[in-house]
Order: sequence, then structure tokens, then C-alpha cells
Amino acid sequence: MAVGLIVMSLNANANTSENKCELIITANDAMQFDKKALSVPSSCKEVTLNLKHSGNLPKTAMGHNWVLSTADNVQAIANDGMTAGADNSFIKAGDERVLAHTDVIGGGGSTSITFSIEGLDSKAAYRFFCSFPGHWAIMQGSFVIEA
Ligand code: CU
Repeated sequence: MAVGLIVMSLNANANTSENKCELIITANDAMQFDKKALSVPSSCKEVTLNLKHSGNLPKTAMGHNWVLSTADNVQAIANDGMTAGADNSFIKAGDERVLAHTDVIGGGGSTSITFSIEGLDSKAAYRFFCSFPGHWAIMQGSFVIEA
């Protein structure tokens, strides 16, 4: 079964890199991610995901985070996250279906998370999404482990 793989979460300045184990994704005030798909080689020991918010709206109105799970858990995680509320970054505490997630950021913000993909399967269907209430249906995409 999938296990929680979060190694650490930190606020980082996202430096651009050719490193295939480092990903950058941007969210905006129009409730959109700029990418519909992300992929990393299975050889990555750890993956660093940098999330930027290119908009101006505060995180109370147009907050975004980046959450990774298997495809079949997206909606349930988002529903439980809505109940968990903003103080918990819209993620239920200890939710083991969540493989990795960032904090919620507002316009002009950025955040980063580094996590292990050991144990993730190149044949499985993973999705990334935003768990801010009402966003997950639009703000999501595929996350592929390249064999
Ligand atoms: Cu969002």
C-alpha cells in the first residue's frame, strides 16, 4: 500500500535547474495550474516540487497548494481537506492517502516540498491537485513515474 512519503517541507527559493528530479509548477488567480502533467524518472531518490503563485489574490480567497495522491483518492482527500480547513492547509491531519503536499500559498508566494518516490509505482495512476475548497476539480493533472 501507499505510505506517507513526505521527507520534509520547507519554504525555499525555487532555483531553476536542469535536474529532472526538480519540478516547477505555477498557479494563478484564475484557479489554474500551468501544467496538466508532471513526470519524474524512477531513478530520482527524492523529488523537489516548487509551487509558485503568480497571482495577486490573498490565500484566503485564491489559495493554492500542491497535493499528490493516487487518482482514486483525489476527491475524498479534497472533501476531507475542506473539513480540515485553512489552518491545516486543507489536508486532514495524518491523512495517509496523501503522498506529499505543500502548504497553501497566496498570490506572489512560493513554497517547496521534497519527498521520496521510493515505493511509488510507474504503472500506477497518480494525480496532483489543489485541495483548496472547490479547486480540485479543475486544478489537477497527472503525475507519472517514468520507468
Ligand atoms: Cu487552488
